[in-house]
Amino acid sequence: MYKKIPLIAVIQLLILSCTTGNEEKSYVLNSPEGKNSIQFNLNGGSPQYSVNHGETKVITPSEMGFVFKDQDSLYHDLEVIDVEKSSIDDTWEQVWGEKHIIKNNYNQLTVHLKEREKKQRKLDIEFRAFDDGIAFRYIFPEQGIKDSIFIMDELTRFNLASDGKAWWIPAYDEQRYENLFTASPVSTLDTVHTPLTIESDNGLAISFHEANLIDFTSTTLAHIEGTSLKTDLVPWADGVKVRTINSFKTPWRTLQIASKPTELINSYMILNLNEPNKIKDTSWIKTFKYLGIWWGMHIGKYTFWEGEKQGATTKNAYNYIDYANELSINYLLIEGWNKGWTPAWYENAMHQFSFTEEADNFDLKEVTDYAAKNDVEIVGYHETGSNLHNYLEQIDSAFALYKKRGIHTVKIGHVGSKLNMKEWHHGQFGVNYYRYVVQKAAEYGLEIYFHEPIKDTGERRTYPNMMAREGARGQEYNAWSEGNPPSHTVILPFTRLLAGPMDFTPAVFDVEIKEGYPGRRVHSTTAKQLALMVVLYSPLQMLADLPENYVNKPEFKFLKDVPTDWEDTKIINGEIGKFITTARKDIDSDDWYLGSITNEEVRSLEVGLDFLDKGVTYEAQIYADAPDTGYQNNPTAVRIENRKVSAADTLSLLLGESGGAAVRFKKL
Ligand code: NOJ
Repeated sequence: MYKKIPLIAVIQLLILSCTTGNEEKSYVLNSPEGKNSIQFNLNGGSPQYSVNHGETKVITPSEMGFVFKDQDSLYHDLEVIDVEKSSIDDTWEQVWGEKHIIKNNYNQLTVHLKEREKKQRKLDIEFRAFDDGIAFRYIFPEQGIKDSIFIMDELTRFNLASDGKAWWIPAYDEQRYENLFTASPVSTLDTVHTPLTIESDNGLAISFHEANLIDFTSTTLAHIEGTSLKTDLVPWADGVKVRTINSFKTPWRTLQIASKPTELINSYMILNLNEPNKIKDTSWIKTFKYLGIWWGMHIGKYTFWEGEKQGATTKNAYNYIDYANELSINYLLIEGWNKGWTPAWYENAMHQFSFTEEADNFDLKEVTDYAAKNDVEIVGYHETGSNLHNYLEQIDSAFALYKKRGIHTVKIGHVGSKLNMKEWHHGQFGVNYYRYVVQKAAEYGLEIYFHEPIKDTGERRTYPNMMAREGARGQEYNAWSEGNPPSHTVILPFTRLLAGPMDFTPAVFDVEIKEGYPGRRVHSTTAKQLALMVVLYSPLQMLADLPENYVNKPEFKFLKDVPTDWEDTKIINGEIGKFITTARKDIDSDDWYLGSITNEEVRSLEVGLDFLDKGVTYEAQIYADAPDTGYQNNPTAVRIENRKVSAADTLSLLLGESGGAAVRFKKL
């Protein structure tokens, strides 16, 4: 339930110093505790900013401005006509998430600029300094420009003071956002997606991203020279980057700054930069765990399409509902239930799926009725094949059908390298499409999780029915490709997941994949799969394996117990690409949960339990790799042990190759 917390907005006098440089003033904005600072000045009429973390230079003077079509560029001949200062120190409540109460504390400086000559156009730049990072955005106010405005380039540079190890995935790739991360020096990058996390040579951990992406295009980052990056706005098919009329507001350009990578994960700056919740009644928005008629398709046991091996038949749906019942899991995803699937469905970019017509052997009413009788809710599925023309024509009737059948969640897929065969998922068209769907779904009381999504920029704060998205190489790649290497899941928390929750579809117990494609496997132990439920946050967590693989497995108890909504999250230890240990406190009880995972290296970790509530005794229910277990050797063996612990104790964890440990701390 959403409980409104009164905002304590304290508008104070900002610590703003103005120094007179050679010719133009410089403005300095400090974060509340003074950890970060932004300097702004005009350099011969051209705006520029720089960023410091304490005494350490992070961004040296960097250019700002725009290039338009059929209009003069806007980056020089400017003067400051006014500055405004404000501060915010308040808290707000997440409807669901990794942390319940979020602190929002920053100082803001708005610089109002105007061209000295010619058209005397105005441009505002808002800067915010937080203790966990900095952000700024441009506002081009309404000023009597009647024509459309076509942005052809945004000139924002990020001139990094130091080189560093950047963890990146490529932009403009047919795989959209689904790539393995590579680590290389900033100075060698090409054009990359955000979040871009950098272990800087100056000792800091930083991450570039953006927030509040509304009716604009996403930015990627292009390497220009040395350690200088520049916004590279994703274009429309005709090369225009952003189409707008009269005025525009860019998303926030963000830079999270921490003394080590694990601290980046505890930053909620991206959410703070999004607009507050617009959904008044959120009582229908639930987090949950779900089974699916899904993995069977990916490992070749079932097909998406009609035929002998069709996964989504009424009969099989009944079977899965029975499993859900037996396993006490209350949600079931069913893919491939509708007309339009063919064996080569993913090769046909203009797929004509129907979103209301059932496959011959599937009866949605019968299935949802049987599910309801068994206290199971069906999770809907729409694969658009990226033919959005076809999808948007049907969206109202498709959502109305789900509403009628008591379905409150829909997974929406966008397989294909371009939307409608020509637009990038990350362009302005995609930005507007994905937000439109979230808003439309809210009208029908539907939660959304997108696959093949646009990147997350914190929309869930404004629309908390925007639950999760895949948007990274998830579990499915283990079924039908060479798979994800052991390091993948120890990179994701420091990179992709800084943007928001990920539907990784974890918890595959049968990591050697007995069915389907011979030789394919999950490069993980079963204990690591349990730990992913804690480490990789998603409000909707899939128990992705075939349900029969869970039956009578003692370790299934952890999957049954582990929550999907948290009071608090702490990152205990971790190094990008090597290991991470995450502890989270359940929102509904006094229990804590912990997940610890490693890359291909065996690792022993001493985990201090001082995150636990003081003066309380817990039963630690430990699910760890059995001795000598690793992803290549006896990967499914899980050692289960119960022991009494308190905050004063230390837990020794031994993680096998690509192994893990999952612990429930049950308050006694
Ligand atoms: C790719 C999605 O990621 C996966 O979850 C889904 O099952 C298939 N597309 C089919 O839509």
